[in-house]
Amino acid sequence: MTKKIVAIWAQDENGLIGKGDRLPWYLPADWAHFKETTTGHTMVMGRITFDGMGKRALPNRHTLVLTTDKSYQVESDRVTVLHGVEEVLDWHHQQGGTLFVLGGGQIFTAFAPYIEELIVTDIQGQFEGDSFFPETFPMEEFQLQSEQFRPKDEANPVDFIIKNYKRREK
Ligand SMILES: NC(=O)c1ccc[n+]([C@@H]2O[C@H](COP(=O)([O-])OP(=O)(O)OC[C@H]3O[C@@H](n4cnc5c(N)ncnc54)[C@H](OP(=O)(O)O)[C@@H]3O)[C@@H](O)[C@H]2O)c1
Repeated sequence: MTKKIVAIWAQDENGLIGKGDRLPWYLPADWAHFKETTTGHTMVMGRITFDGMGKRALPNRHTLVLTTDKSYQVESDRVTVLHGVEEVLDWHHQQGGTLFVLGGGQIFTAFAPYIEELIVTDIQGQFEGDSFFPETFPMEEFQLQSEQFRPKDEANPVDFIIKNYKRREK
């Protein structure tokens, strides 16, 4: 089975990704894109992001939650709690398939060396929040492959662009 690690996130023009433990915007078209892309796969996210989702696993996907808290538990067979990057990589090595790195900031940083592809939603606006995509993330190691413009509409107040990157050959 193919094995791949792909980061997926949405950011505004300032690199903003979060407000408290939630997203700063409501963009159903981007959520639909996220759902379509990740359905049937495994996602890894930080404990803060998972708490912000009400500790609920998204349907039709397996969720790995990363925490240092050994007593943290989630009652769901769609969720596996793990305690370090190596544990996640071992899990991925055994299970195969595509692992989506979902964030937040700490998780993008922790998995940066292992990520092979990026799927980035660039939101054409500026929002309020307090969590930013890490400036130290090595974007220069990735090459833009394609982009798709999604114009705003009645339900989605801003334009956005979905960009696909692949890690450059060494
Ligand atoms: N725009 C987007 O696409 C997007 C996507 C995802 C999240 N977000 C936003 O990002 C924000 C949260 O980001 P964040 O950086 O504050 O938190 P986070 O990455 O979601 O979670 C951080 C937590 O993950 C655990 N953790 C991190 N590295 C670990 C490691 N190496 N080993 C074990 N556990 C580890 C720790 O949990 P413990 O404290 O329990 O040990 C840490 O406190 C929220 O606002 C959320 O909405 C945005």
